[in-house]
Amino acid sequence: MEKVISDIGIISEKEKNSETGLISKENNSGKKKKLYVESYGCQMNFSDSEIVTSILAKEGYDTTSDSTEADLILINTCSIRERAEQTVRNRLNHFNGLKKKRPELTVGVLGCMAERLKSKLLEEEKIVDLVVGPDAYRDLPNLVSQVDDGHKAVNTFLSREETYADISPVRLNSNGVTAFISIMRGCDNMCSFCVVPFTRGRERSRDPQSIVNEARDLFENGYREVTLLGQNVDSYKWSSNKEFKGKAQIEKANEQEIVNFARLLEMVANVHQDLRVRFSTSHPKDITDEVLYTMIRHENICKYIHLPVQSGNTRILEMMNRTYTRNGYINKIDAIRDILGEECGISSDMIVGFCSETEKEHKDTLSLMDYAQYDFSYMFMYSERPGTLAEKKYENDIPEEIKKKRLNEIIEKQQEISLARNKRDLKKVHKILVEGFSKRSDKHLQGRNSANKVVVFPKAAFKKGQYVNVMVNDCTTATLIGEAVN
Ligand code: SAH
Ligand code: SF4
Ligand code: F3S
Repeated sequence: MEKVISDIGIISEKEKNSETGLISKENNSGKKKKLYVESYGCQMNFSDSEIVTSILAKEGYDTTSDSTEADLILINTCSIRERAEQTVRNRLNHFNGLKKKRPELTVGVLGCMAERLKSKLLEEEKIVDLVVGPDAYRDLPNLVSQVDDGHKAVNTFLSREETYADISPVRLNSNGVTAFISIMRGCDNMCSFCVVPFTRGRERSRDPQSIVNEARDLFENGYREVTLLGQNVDSYKWSSNKEFKGKAQIEKANEQEIVNFARLLEMVANVHQDLRVRFSTSHPKDITDEVLYTMIRHENICKYIHLPVQSGNTRILEMMNRTYTRNGYINKIDAIRDILGEECGISSDMIVGFCSETEKEHKDTLSLMDYAQYDFSYMFMYSERPGTLAEKKYENDIPEEIKKKRLNEIIEKQQEISLARNKRDLKKVHKILVEGFSKRSDKHLQGRNSANKVVVFPKAAFKKGQYVNVMVNDCTTATLIGEAVN
């Protein structure tokens, strides 16, 4: 993924566009009504927008990329940081102009902000007709018809079971090569800074067979890479015994009946050896050696792990309720390097300026980065979120300027490390899955290597979806540059 620097740190290309979110593409199949979807936040949200589009396609909606021709505008929102919510409010103001011209236009808010604010959103943002939380999308047809009848409609019910397993997503912004598959929903961790457990509800895993079927369908339709998504994929757990519902009960099921994350990975890897498998996010407290050994056994499971550390200091980690220490985290890094080697890509998320963080504790994050040698990181300034444990227990007492200074220090450190890590890849041949043209020129293609690094090379006769061996001979902090070899 290309990375850019912004005021909130190094973020993904997708997040860079977040002033306007990820917009649905035109799909005209002759249906009567037009749906415009704009998505913010994490990959799970983008994946949910594809489920929503699938549900509404059955109700006679085609998608459009032009909000001015839409009958229904849906914004799938994120609450993770204050800024994310502000962006959505700015967009609602923008759509207000459209609604003034066409009062029959319906505007709905989906996702985490809908769940967090519920019907309060209707009072705060007069333009909104529809508020739907992440577990209530099946109710959309009914809710939209309530709006058509002249009412406002809200459903923010959180479920312990909903996984949308039977709904086949309409791929909205696909390159036709890589796709995301949600394998679980919700989160049972209670990191003190984080709003996700409140907006997404309890953790639940999706039926493994439906995941494998989705992967197989994608492969048969020309896709060559799937990323299995969850807030904490290592705690994926499913039992075929219907008596055991909910995570606590599954523990009681027979060992043979349980599918854990390592087994699921193996099942998806077995769909086809030409289908690459990635996954995100791994939690340092839950990732097991069994997962690491499964990764070595299958060439098509990519050697890349996103293992967010958040802070390099044990006192801060404890306050964050991450349930591991600096040393515990270091042990996981050691296990990855021992089992999968130096080549395995590792990335992280980090928060600077958490409540009461001292200069010395911040330095611990910097020294941990030196140890872990991340290929890249997503880096953030702490943003206090209403209702979280940290908001209730601790004071958000680090001044903005200090947060910015610390953020700049970790960004600078990460850039040095990224460049050094990329230099290690020079003069080596990497197997690349071609995803499309490079961002800068249509004479070049781009794809990623197993370790998730973007590689750019001359197009020649290669095509999207092909595997190409590329000799890397140059690099920047974010990209490897090379030429195809036989
Ligand atoms: N489930 C993933 C993270 C999901 S949120 C995990 O446990 O790692 C993505 C990232 O946003 C987090 O890893 C964290 O670094 C950041 N984040 C979450 N809440 C935040 C807050 N209140 N302020 C700043 N960054 C936050
Ligand atoms: Fe948030 Fe922690 Fe759950 Fe990640 S694991 S979603 S940071 S509560
Ligand atoms: Fe944001 Fe919700 Fe994802 S808060 S990061 S969209 S789970």
